[in-house]
Amino acid sequence: MSSASTAAVAIDAGELPMGGGLLALVRPSLQLLQPGGVLAVNSLRDGLQDDISVWCKIQQHEYLGHEDATGAEGSTTTRHLIRRGLLSVAKGQRESDMRLTPRDGRLSAEEVLSAVPMPDNADPSSGFAPRGAQVEPGGPRYPFDLLNRDHVAPPEVARLYDQAVESQWDANRDIAWDQLPVHHPDLERALDQVFTFLAENELSALYVPSRFVSRIHPAYAEVAMFLSTQMADEARHIDVFLKRARAGGGGLGVSSATTSQSLLTLLELTDFTEAAFLLSVLGEGTFLDLLRFIETHAPDEVTADIVQRARNDETRHVHFGLVHVRHALAHDKGLYQRLENAVRRRAAAMAGAGGVPDALQDGLTILAAGSTSPKAVSRGHDAFRGLLDEMHHNRIKRLEHAGFTADQARTLSELHTPNFM
Ligand SMILES: [Fe+2]
Ligand SMILES: [Fe+2]
Repeated sequence: MSSASTAAVAIDAGELPMGGGLLALVRPSLQLLQPGGVLAVNSLRDGLQDDISVWCKIQQHEYLGHEDATGAEGSTTTRHLIRRGLLSVAKGQRESDMRLTPRDGRLSAEEVLSAVPMPDNADPSSGFAPRGAQVEPGGPRYPFDLLNRDHVAPPEVARLYDQAVESQWDANRDIAWDQLPVHHPDLERALDQVFTFLAENELSALYVPSRFVSRIHPAYAEVAMFLSTQMADEARHIDVFLKRARAGGGGLGVSSATTSQSLLTLLELTDFTEAAFLLSVLGEGTFLDLLRFIETHAPDEVTADIVQRARNDETRHVHFGLVHVRHALAHDKGLYQRLENAVRRRAAAMAGAGGVPDALQDGLTILAAGSTSPKAVSRGHDAFRGLLDEMHHNRIKRLEHAGFTADQARTLSELHTPNFM
């Protein structure tokens, strides 16, 4: 049988009775027809007409009647004609010409997205129906409220999802834990403070996207799928950072009130694009510089490896945040002002919180110093000041890349939280 535009189709039903498999042939054949198209059911069974006629009425098809014909061996074949009803139609056309083609033996999400493009707007009554499925009418309305492609789904999402899946690593097996050296207790305590801070921020990076996943319409499932890889990354970062803090012998350090206040303002966001902007572009963007600093000054290779792995993942999160925000800005000019307002509101909520949390500042200074000798600490202090300058500089670059003017970018960067995330 051929394509969905077929006007008439015939099937051979043999002696199948109505309750014994006949419908498994009739129903899919009717689905191949356009409404108004006619299905001929050739049956060797007597007396089917009443059953078929009743079924057609219930299913809102039209039973056109039957005619008998005598076969070559004297058997009687009855030909029942059914016209597909208008109201029986599921929304959408069957993907009858669909055949995904592997490239070098692979079938990427990017390939699927190009074969099954996302709609501009999504219908909440299609529920969890996968994009491309035919949807029967009459389904309930679902509470998804992220229904517009240009606000939710940048075109790069499938490629980033493919990359994310390929880049997963294991905090249990892939780290050379048995080669972690013993450091001077002062240096180890500084490191453990830094990793405590990182883990606390990673917890927010896990929770914040989770609030949006269930609001994304499944027509844009790749966005939810990408965010699920991001959440798996954050889970791994929490795991590996807490393990690192405890594997060195110092245990966890302090969680500051400033960090707590800063992360609450992220958790309370309800707008998806504002959250992507504050969490991924500004927060995780700033963390890229922080992670590079820790990696540069790490006193051993195991610690450097842990931070470098996390930074690779974060680079992807920042990339997704940037393409999300850029794509949304390109389709909604009023969004510039809303994002700026979001930064200002957050800065107002952080007023009085002070600067970079003391314990973190001390930890980073000693880490960069490598020891507690006054000379080294002076160098560590300078390195920490240099980190703040570099964070500001790179935030401005990212903001300009997102589409803000140089002036806007400088102002927004200065308003960014002293907690970095
Ligand atoms: Fe992370
Ligand atoms: Fe992240």
